[in-house]
Amino acid sequence: MRKALVIGAGGQIGTELVLRLREKLGTENAIAADVKTECPPSLKECVYVQMDVLDREAVRKYIIDEKITEVYLLAALLSATAEKNPDFAWKLNMEGLFTILDLAKEGHLQKIFWPSSIAVFGPTTPKDQTPQRTIMEPSTVYGISKQAGERWCEYYHKKFGVDVRSIRYPGLISYTSLPGGGTTDYAVDIFYQAKLGNTYSSFLNSETRLPMMFMDDAIRATLDLMEAPSENIGIRSSYNLNGCDFTPAEIATEIKKHIPDFEINYEPDYRQDIADTWPNSIDDSSAREDWGWKERYDLTDLVKVMLENVDVQLLSEK
Ligand code: SER
Repeated sequence: MRKALVIGAGGQIGTELVLRLREKLGTENAIAADVKTECPPSLKECVYVQMDVLDREAVRKYIIDEKITEVYLLAALLSATAEKNPDFAWKLNMEGLFTILDLAKEGHLQKIFWPSSIAVFGPTTPKDQTPQRTIMEPSTVYGISKQAGERWCEYYHKKFGVDVRSIRYPGLISYTSLPGGGTTDYAVDIFYQAKLGNTYSSFLNSETRLPMMFMDDAIRATLDLMEAPSENIGIRSSYNLNGCDFTPAEIATEIKKHIPDFEINYEPDYRQDIADTWPNSIDDSSAREDWGWKERYDLTDLVKVMLENVDVQLLSEK
């Protein structure tokens, strides 16, 4: 019997992941947890528990008492927010991970999913088709925390047999909930401004190429990775995963095919410096070989589905 707990369920990935897990495991076995006191509206049909991942004892008690078998630990500060609050970002991104890894080490959990990011790479990493194993000298607080987390995941697997699985998510594009605090968020914001008939002011310059992925692909990858036989999981740090890659100019051109009057201008800010250290594109052949990963959405598909589904009402709920 699987019983999953998604910590950080109110975020961009969590809202969609919980709903998919609920379809798979049933309402009682896909529990949403978040620090927010109110359950996010999109999760109102789900079992919801208010949980601060930094409250180690409360998290331990809940997981042990409720006989949770797998945890998806999504609570984190993303790259842009982490630069503004480095101490808290380090604390949040690391302490929760140790709480969950320790529970698995003690035999209270069968499996853990913990997301890493393209932010583990840095300015000295080869930028094109970035390999699974390469130079990693991240220069952001977020990237440092994710790289450290990857090392700890691999360590707990090797030393204590913890079944932890991870993906280095690229920028994720979705319409169900808004992202918050990331460098790749422009590629979501742009759809809301396009729908509102506004000119979009991009905080990255026109030629900044970054790896991206439509959320359906990211959720499918996560579920497939978690369901793959343990012996197929050759990488216990985190898997490279590629969806598509594009620049702000390219996504604007694609949006213009649907909304011909759409305009974009460029006002790069501090997030440009972060983006400049990240890959242009990712080599994900290990994920393809080990557990059969293949993306479904390219830029054309994701622009079409985003424009069909983005609801500008969400902006007022933020
Ligand atoms: N989307 C994330 C960010 O921009 C990258 O993992 O911070």
